[in-house]
Amino acid sequence: MSTKPRIFSGAQPTGNLHLGNYLGAVRNWVRLQADYECIYCVVDLHAITVAQDPAELSRATREVAAAYLAAGVDATTSIVFNQARVAAHAELAWIFNCVARLGWLNRMTQFKEKAGKNRENASTGLYVYPNLMAADILAYRATHVPVGEDQKQHIELARDIAQKFNKDFGVDLFPLPEPVIQAEAARVMSLRDGTKKMSKSDPSDMSRINLTDSPDLIAQKIRRATTDPLPLPDTVEGLSGRAEATNLVTIYAGLADQEVADVVAKFAGANFSTFKEALTQLAIDTLAPITGEMRRLTADPGYIDGVLRDGAARARALAAPVLADVHKAVGLLTD
Ligand code: TRP
Repeated sequence: MSTKPRIFSGAQPTGNLHLGNYLGAVRNWVRLQADYECIYCVVDLHAITVAQDPAELSRATREVAAAYLAAGVDATTSIVFNQARVAAHAELAWIFNCVARLGWLNRMTQFKEKAGKNRENASTGLYVYPNLMAADILAYRATHVPVGEDQKQHIELARDIAQKFNKDFGVDLFPLPEPVIQAEAARVMSLRDGTKKMSKSDPSDMSRINLTDSPDLIAQKIRRATTDPLPLPDTVEGLSGRAEATNLVTIYAGLADQEVADVVAKFAGANFSTFKEALTQLAIDTLAPITGEMRRLTADPGYIDGVLRDGAARARALAAPVLADVHKAVGLLTD
């Protein structure tokens, strides 16, 4: 058995994965494989907390798995699978529904945002979403969870659930998982509005660079990205108050794997047309191998399904003894 600490993370199969997901999450996941035993899930059960078109859900589930692989997740050493294939997630989530308190869930800011004004019409699944997320992590006794800043509150809830379960049943079954915060995720903003996060749900496709975009489309989106009339500053401080300029420089730094200060130094005083040309070239060079591999993989859904099935079998084997311990602790009779 591996002695490396165990990571669990996941992304929802809703819409396309974009540059923010790649720089903020998936690229990091690839790197974490060196030091952790990694379980990377496509969280389809989380996706259905809001309405989904069934055919689109299946397509997006395979596509997100393809993105993990294309970016460099190694499905032989890491585990890649979709959540619905491993029943332990839903089973443990039910038990956690009975551990978590209404008061805890009422404090979740993401529910308030996602439910919006029409709260009465939100699904009950959306409300208990964080309990399922806790089950995802704790079914494997994972100790480290790479997530963006926006998910930190959910990891804290998972810790509260782990702690209360251990205390209520007098066991030491669950570790308290730690968030591994991926700062970049929060910093990749919309290409149309530098104050809004780059998002799959933005109605304008021009606001984001998808991992499925062709080089021509990437070039077009960067050319049309909102900027201000000034040239690039020669210090990082000079970016303050310039959301769009900050965003494009941040994206360049992310893609080049450099510090923002180094990028500012390189382009000090340049106008945006020069900078955008360099950014376009860099984005295409960096993303082309990934998008090409994604296209190759999504053309062969049988292969992706094989990877997901194999990952699910290995995930089931890891979760089974944990669920057995949980059933025993609670007093549920199972085989
Ligand atoms: N809620 C996460 C998001 O929207 C996705 C997710 C579901 C997740 N289960 C998880 C992330 C477990 C980390 C660990 O980004």
